[in-house]
Amino acid sequence: MIIGVPTEIKNNEKRIGLTPDSVARLTAIGHEVLIQKNAGESIGFTDEEYLANKAKILDTAEDVYKSSEMIVKVKEPIPEEYKYLRDNLTLFTYLHLAGDPENAKKMIDTGVTGIAYETVTADDGSMPLLAPMSTIAGQLAFFVGSYHLLKHNKGKGVMIGKLEDIDPRVVSVIGAGVAGTQSIAKALENHAHVKVVDSSQQKLESLKSQFGTNNIEYILSNEESIQASINDSDLVIGSVYVVGKEAPRVVTREMLTSMSPGTVMVDVSIDQGGCFESSRPTTHDKPTFVENDIVHYCVTNMPGAVPLTATEALNKATISYIEELANKGIDRALSENKHLKNGLNIQDGNITHQGVKDSLEKI
Ligand SMILES: NC(=O)c1ccc[n+]([C@@H]2O[C@H](COP(=O)([O-])OP(=O)(O)OC[C@H]3O[C@@H](n4cnc5c(N)ncnc54)[C@H](O)[C@@H]3O)[C@@H](O)[C@H]2O)c1
Repeated sequence: MIIGVPTEIKNNEKRIGLTPDSVARLTAIGHEVLIQKNAGESIGFTDEEYLANKAKILDTAEDVYKSSEMIVKVKEPIPEEYKYLRDNLTLFTYLHLAGDPENAKKMIDTGVTGIAYETVTADDGSMPLLAPMSTIAGQLAFFVGSYHLLKHNKGKGVMIGKLEDIDPRVVSVIGAGVAGTQSIAKALENHAHVKVVDSSQQKLESLKSQFGTNNIEYILSNEESIQASINDSDLVIGSVYVVGKEAPRVVTREMLTSMSPGTVMVDVSIDQGGCFESSRPTTHDKPTFVENDIVHYCVTNMPGAVPLTATEALNKATISYIEELANKGIDRALSENKHLKNGLNIQDGNITHQGVKDSLEKI
């Protein structure tokens, strides 16, 4: 198969779809890999290294898309890239179609086949291609949240850390899956008092056996419990996810009015449309805005801040699926592997994933 890797062009996005090691694995089994010139340069993956692993280097994104059967990317294509999409091309990447319904419609109309990392499943019901980036985003959420609590960042001017005789600061984590669990661990390591809010009692029980009961509360998610948690918090991290669907809005605008000024809210779920009603997507260039005196951090590509780590972690997870798609061809790979099939979001202008369909039918 001919596999293409264009340069990522989303704001401050320096990750790349394939590392030189992944290219070596694919070319060793007879596949052709086309890399856009300088696509990995800013994280130290040079064209020379790709050439040494038998990739071909092409000058432009157009050249890469035109000559490829499957494109392996990181982030969803942005509107400038839609002109390259066509019906006999497969995209294997994060798609987050429910996060941007208006543009999603235009992408679907190109007829491209879209297999989304975030809806590929595993036997235990987990999301193996979402997990590595959620692991990174969950840890970063605690750090960026703490940083924006600094007074000059418009935060409350409090430190989440260890001080004798001073009560710990409070961190709420709403949605305690892969990302949320990482945020909880970082908050506890930094001596915060943590409120864990999730809609699954089973999830709360299993977290209790992992984190114990010291400096941590486990709370079943509903409007009242969320309001009570956020009213007490210095930092609120929202990391809910319902497979493929637009994120549920767990914090409404109205709920902000009883929070204390300078509280920081990090909306990790912003790539699925955001779990706070007041959220809107931001970029690494300007990551926050203040609404109702609350600092909102809503960067849709948080792992883009650590592109080398994130590219390596992503490739470890994706490479076996890329090999399967390339070796068997798209149709056979999808028909023989139900977990890859769960990743299929769009084909021939139609939405093929029920969760995505449910969310997009609203537009
Ligand atoms: N912004 C970024 O750069 C970035 C990076 C990576 C992941 N993400 C996003 O982070 C989100 C979380 O990903 P994950 O892998 O941790 O998902 P996950 O499936 O592991 O966890 C989601 C959790 O949300 C809980 N949940 C669902 N509905 C809820 C509700 N109404 N109230 C409380 N809890 C609820 C679930 O029970 C589950 O525990 C996803 O939307 C993912 O796309 C964003």
